[in-house]
Amino acid sequence: MADPTSAPSLAESIDASIASFFASHNPLTYLLLAIITGILVYPLIVGQDPDIHPFLLARQSSAAPIRNPKESPVYRALDVPHGYPLRNALGVKDIGAPKWTSGRRGDLRDVLARAVSGPLNAESTAHDASKVGKVWTLSGKDKSTPTEMKELMRMVKTLGSFAKDKAGADGKVAVCLSNSVELLASIFAAAFYDYEVAIIPTGLPQNQTDNLLAQTNPNILIAEAGELDLTTALPKCGTSLKELILIAKPDSKHMDWASTPTPKGVSVTTWDDLLSSSSATSDIPSIEKDAPKPKPLSTFTSTTSGLFTLTTFTSDNLIAGTAALLTSLPRTQPLSPTDTLLPTTSISNPYTLTWILAALYSNASIALNSVSGPNVDLFATTASFQPTILVTSPGTLQKYLTNYTKTGLGPSRFTKFFHRRSLRQGIMPSRKPIPDLGGGKDAVFLVMELAALSKLRAVFVGHDTSADKANSLTSSDLDSLRTELGVKISYALTSGQVAGAVAQGNLHDYRDKGEKVVCVGAPAGSVEIKLVGDDDGVVGRGRGGEGFIVVNGPAVAGEKGEVQLDVKAKIDTDHTLLLL
Ligand SMILES: *[C@@H]1O[C@H](CO)[C@@H](O)[C@H](O)[C@H]1NC(C)=O
Ligand SMILES: *[C@@H]1O[C@H](CO)[C@@H](O)[C@H](O)[C@H]1NC(C)=O
Ligand SMILES: *[C@@H]1O[C@H](CO)[C@@H](O)[C@H](O)[C@H]1NC(C)=O
Repeated sequence: MADPTSAPSLAESIDASIASFFASHNPLTYLLLAIITGILVYPLIVGQDPDIHPFLLARQSSAAPIRNPKESPVYRALDVPHGYPLRNALGVKDIGAPKWTSGRRGDLRDVLARAVSGPLNAESTAHDASKVGKVWTLSGKDKSTPTEMKELMRMVKTLGSFAKDKAGADGKVAVCLSNSVELLASIFAAAFYDYEVAIIPTGLPQNQTDNLLAQTNPNILIAEAGELDLTTALPKCGTSLKELILIAKPDSKHMDWASTPTPKGVSVTTWDDLLSSSSATSDIPSIEKDAPKPKPLSTFTSTTSGLFTLTTFTSDNLIAGTAALLTSLPRTQPLSPTDTLLPTTSISNPYTLTWILAALYSNASIALNSVSGPNVDLFATTASFQPTILVTSPGTLQKYLTNYTKTGLGPSRFTKFFHRRSLRQGIMPSRKPIPDLGGGKDAVFLVMELAALSKLRAVFVGHDTSADKANSLTSSDLDSLRTELGVKISYALTSGQVAGAVAQGNLHDYRDKGEKVVCVGAPAGSVEIKLVGDDDGVVGRGRGGEGFIVVNGPAVAGEKGEVQLDVKAKIDTDHTLLLL
């Protein structure tokens, strides 16, 4: 039995011993005190907030309150509530327009006009010419050539007026070029000079290219000299073909491309001749308020069956997709004039194209490498160039990770442990500087290539619905990439039928959902998504429901503005899409 009188005496004796302990002032007490204070205060000083409030990751899209039978509810990005219009405009403000107006929807011409004039100076009184972006052409291991935006504008005006003149009203131009400044110029020229343009993917077998050309029926064909077999390609273009514009690579400029034999009625010009004989200036053509919208742009995108289908995007589709990409970026870290965006996928892919438009509209620079596709060697592509934003494909990134891990230059196990811990707390670990290996040529080379990614601040990975499933990156793969590379990665679902992304992961969502989970984030702002299936019980089972993805909205090509994708998905508890 406890003795009630002993309790106060025990407390008193503890009290007394503590008092005497501190009264004795020996070095040990000071040391202990310092350690205790350190442990308590340290996290308060260095403790960081997570990069995003966990609340914002817990629910990333909103479900409509009602649903149809055999369908899930409609899901939308959080910034476009149900009942309001989806994101479809850039909000271009003309000079002199009142500040409070929401601005015009905008089109491709506004995008280039903005890139050419550049950001405003600190006082917002005039454009700052020193901050205008550039288009970099990467070639070989360590060569990069800049093209000024003004020069791009001059190309657009030269090509545009020439093509308009030759192709006539309702003309159509087919462009078969790899990622290059000439391809960009061809796309914008069509917008400024009001004709249709079709982008033919490069690197296909000749008979497939010929088939695509036959479907396009162009008046003008722009191609790289020596790349296409013109003897089979030109007849496929049909009798409407009047003009062939050839672009000679630097190493084949000496050849006499201008006298390439062609079928009767088709004349040949080289890009260089066109530019050198042009008197076009680099002034931005004035865009009249009631001028018609640019004509549509067509691309060929691959389907699950490996064939290509022609998709026609209106100017409004592209702008909606671009606007949604821009708003998907964290508000504190938008694309800016200090960014350089490098795509490793082809510009004929609408996801890549809209990222280019987003970068140009944000006064950022672009870097282009003619080597592009679903599976490129990132080490070789980036060379010694240092992009800040990378737009790439799952295959390319997976390949990079495999090679990177093999070099042994990645973080040590110990560092990786801390990186993981930091990621679990929602904080992107800071990257260690590139190690100085010294010695061998190989080592120097590797360091150079790692340095190529040292300025990278975001990676956007487009998972195409037609892509091989084996190539997808799981949530755990992305986690390893974040741990190894220390960069933010956003994984998106893309489709050849939709401008911009269908759904895109939050750049600040570092959670690892597991080895088998392919998470593509929440719907983009320019579309809404629902799942459809045959069994109401399966689709409609609230959050666990699964079915085929149906995408609807201003970014979707076609008159209906709706497409059912060939992929099944389900909605996760945080309202993101998981591919099945
Ligand atoms: C880009 O430049 C325009 C002016 O041409 C400016 O209004 C806009 O804020 C700039 N954007 C960025 C992201 O700097
Ligand atoms: C192209 O040619 C290859 C063989 O030469 C053939 O197997 C393939 O079916 C052809 N493709 C098309 C689209 O005609
Ligand atoms: C790794 O890189 C080398 C050269 O850069 C390349 O030849 C090789 O194919 C790459 N391996 C993988 C798995 O990508």
